[in-house]
Amino acid sequence: MQLRSLLLGTTSALAWLGASARLLTVPTTPFTETGGTYDLAQLTHIVVDSRYADEVDHNSQTWIPPTLQQFAETFQEDLKSVLGLTVQLAKSTKRKPNAIFLTLGNNTDFKDVAGRPTSEGYSLKVDNRGLVITGASPLGAWWATRSIIQATAGDSTIAKGLGADAPGWGTRGAFLDAGRHYYPPDFLIEMCSYLSFFKQNTFHIHLSDNLYNNLDIYSHEQSMNLAAAFRLLTDDPAVAGLNRHGANESYTREQFDNIQSQCARRGVTVIPEIEAPGHALVIVQWKPELGLEDVSMLNISHPDTIPTMKTIWKTFLPWFHSKVVHIGADEYDSSLVSDYTHFVNEMNTFIRSESNGQKSMRIWGTFTPKEGANVSKSVSYQHWDVSADEPYYDYIMNGYNVLNSDDYMYLVGGWSGSFPQTLTQDKVFNGPYGEAYSPVTFDTKKKGDNPARNNPHVLGEIAAIWNDYGQNSTTVLQAYYSWRNALPALADKQWGGNITQDEYNSVFDTLHALIPGQNLDRKIPSKTDTILKYAFDDSSNTITDHSGNGYHGTIHGCKVSDSTLHLADGCYLETPLGSKGRDYTLSFRVKPTSSTPGTLFAGPDSMFVNGNGSITNATLISGGSAYSLNYTLPVQQWTDVSLMAHGNKTMLTVGNGKKATTMEFLAKIGVNGEYHVWAPIAVEAPLARIGEGFTGLMQNIVLKGTAS
Ligand SMILES: *[C@@H]1O[C@H](CO)[C@@H](O)[C@H](O)[C@H]1NC(C)=O
Ligand SMILES: *[C@@H]1O[C@H](CO)[C@@H](O)[C@H](O)[C@H]1NC(C)=O
Ligand SMILES: *[C@@H]1O[C@H](CO)[C@@H](O)[C@H](O)[C@H]1NC(C)=O
Ligand SMILES: *[C@@H]1O[C@H](CO)[C@@H](O)[C@H](O)[C@H]1NC(C)=O
Ligand SMILES: *[C@@H]1O[C@H](CO)[C@@H](O)[C@H](O)[C@H]1NC(C)=O
Ligand SMILES: *[C@@H]1O[C@H](CO)[C@@H](O)[C@H](O)[C@H]1NC(C)=O
Ligand SMILES: *[C@@H]1O[C@H](CO)[C@@H](O)[C@H](O)[C@H]1NC(C)=O
Ligand SMILES: *[C@@H]1O[C@H](CO)[C@@H](O)[C@H](O)[C@H]1NC(C)=O
Ligand SMILES: *[C@@H]1O[C@H](CO)[C@@H](O)[C@H](O)[C@H]1NC(C)=O
Ligand SMILES: *[C@@H]1O[C@H](CO)[C@@H](O)[C@H](O)[C@H]1NC(C)=O
Repeated sequence: MQLRSLLLGTTSALAWLGASARLLTVPTTPFTETGGTYDLAQLTHIVVDSRYADEVDHNSQTWIPPTLQQFAETFQEDLKSVLGLTVQLAKSTKRKPNAIFLTLGNNTDFKDVAGRPTSEGYSLKVDNRGLVITGASPLGAWWATRSIIQATAGDSTIAKGLGADAPGWGTRGAFLDAGRHYYPPDFLIEMCSYLSFFKQNTFHIHLSDNLYNNLDIYSHEQSMNLAAAFRLLTDDPAVAGLNRHGANESYTREQFDNIQSQCARRGVTVIPEIEAPGHALVIVQWKPELGLEDVSMLNISHPDTIPTMKTIWKTFLPWFHSKVVHIGADEYDSSLVSDYTHFVNEMNTFIRSESNGQKSMRIWGTFTPKEGANVSKSVSYQHWDVSADEPYYDYIMNGYNVLNSDDYMYLVGGWSGSFPQTLTQDKVFNGPYGEAYSPVTFDTKKKGDNPARNNPHVLGEIAAIWNDYGQNSTTVLQAYYSWRNALPALADKQWGGNITQDEYNSVFDTLHALIPGQNLDRKIPSKTDTILKYAFDDSSNTITDHSGNGYHGTIHGCKVSDSTLHLADGCYLETPLGSKGRDYTLSFRVKPTSSTPGTLFAGPDSMFVNGNGSITNATLISGGSAYSLNYTLPVQQWTDVSLMAHGNKTMLTVGNGKKATTMEFLAKIGVNGEYHVWAPIAVEAPLARIGEGFTGLMQNIVLKGTAS
């Protein structure tokens, strides 16, 4: 905050910096102030230019682009939800006083880093009468709305002035390995809201994969039973048996449609990936005759392999609304390069013709032309590792388009011997050569081996989270926290902004609090640090919340007496809350009166149970995985308990004073019993239902917003 107030005094949330001017948004927005501010509280309308209300961006990456009118509707919701502004939507060919006018301009006026027109550009004017957004397309206009919300820094004023902005690169965003870790649809949708706020337009979702098939150790049978998943679920008989997870850890067509359209609504295109011929164990588990000796790889020369992949793509292509789809194609047997080329080119021809030319194909960088690969130039490469290729020499010089996902920005969930778990600002701002990272930073060792910043073959950059250690190595929300503090900084560089680290840190918390369409922090509004306090001094079915927040509970069949909640026979206490994210302390007194396992607390992201039928240990469950302590709550005895989250650690303290013992919940990370490592696991506090299935007594339930 210091830098901003130094520069701005108290007048506005805009910054002059030297001779150059921009709004201190993420990414930065070029903007020249003309003096004074406009208070958005005066706004009465968003006026959509009636000539363009139904226009869509034909150049965006999605086949389901929202109209200018639809983007305006989402913006209207956001103004209400994050700034508390109620404005009406109207249509007209002209501005109105005290309105934000949304119109479109000549899209040739906005250029990317290579000097080509981009439909994602926009200009923004703020004057006495209100604001004018002129988009190169509706998507460009949408990005302008993100600048406006951010530029207010939450106080509703914005400097008067004029700016024009356009992204340097067309593909900006993130990649999530949903093959080795399931993420619920709502999480993916919330992540799209997160990406969108920082003008990232791509969410690449990896939909099939398997844990590492360790040939040195596993028998064929062990390999065939190794965790592997295909996340799309259909009852189409053509692929019956491919998805073995069933409804719980898969996406139905309806769900996947909803993910894609909710993301598109905020300008984010979901790029789906179905991986083959490597990382394809799930396909071999389905059709064992298609495997190589390493059954995680397909035998491309088997006559049924390519037809099988075509059947899978024929089934799911109609589900996908992006203009690019990803077939994986990394880490294959290096003695089979010509089979690989044949596979990739066959799939490329198939996907193009099956989609009537509406979809093109992308693969990971794996085999280079130098190594004998000869992939069609219409296929784009996504580079991930300089040990596999040198993108500039191997692809760009050969005329291929390349997307940058260099492993410099790689994360692996939970633990890894090679990669970090958390994206750091240092990598973004100082990069490998002491300067900000950019989409052309492919080779992080030799700066000179990278293309020029304006090279037209560089598509952009995507930061990846992989889940090499599978479902139980992290909770769902840990993926978000891995990116939370630094991905927006990277978004600035993916766009071509120039925020500095000090500036970023001065605005980040303020901007973070304004992100619409998500509550990934699982924040709960509260007057003080005490969010909830149940003393059970009630005589009705309503349990009074003494925190002052009014989060009163409702009893379903339980008895309350002597400041005690009596839990038995499946009765429970319902609260109006769901989950609380880090940090928190959830404390209570408990006395189990039976060793029958039961649920102490349950919420949408997690559960806290004392045992499960075969164990009695205190256990947190999240994302279907169980994290147990070496501890069981004593029966017929009162215990003071605090469940606590501090950063990514989750702890349980039992007893009090000198007798207090603190234990940490840990994830046992490793594949099939090999190389186990214990790592922190970050579990949200479960709050929706208390005591269901538990037999015993509880007192004094208090939730605080800090770890203590
Ligand atoms: C930052 O970018 C703006 C345009 O967005 C430009 O005018 C300015 O010179 C840049 N500032 C620095 C410090 O590079
Ligand atoms: C857009 O601008 C270009 C040059 O900048 C011009 O050639 C073209 O005619 C303009 N198109 C429209 C529709 O105004
Ligand atoms: C699958 O979902 C159903 C219905 O929501 C639930 O009852 C069941 O426990 C879930 N199974 C697993 C393994 O999570
Ligand atoms: C791959 O399939 C071909 C054709 O069916 C077969 O001749 C070959 O032995 C298979 N390779 C392996 C490693 O199984
Ligand atoms: C690569 O494939 C193209 C198109 O099929 C072909 O024209 C070209 O000769 C091939 N190049 C090599 C080195 O095989
Ligand atoms: C836990 O948090 C620390 C500190 O932020 C971070 O360095 C580490 O990568 C995190 N570990 C996991 C498993 O998230
Ligand atoms: C209870 O938890 C243990 C340890 O996580 C697990 O092995 C067992 O399968 C679970 N039992 C039930 C009935 O869920
Ligand atoms: C439980 O005890 C075992 C054996 O001492 C230890 O390896 C493990 O880390 C403990 N589990 C937890 C969650 O602390
Ligand atoms: C449950 O706790 C006991 C010690 O109390 C420990 O030996 C056992 O390994 C724990 N079970 C699990 C699944 O962590
Ligand atoms: C985590 O899941 C893997 C399979 O994905 C399994 O091998 C491992 O035993 C599980 N770990 C625990 C602690 O349940």
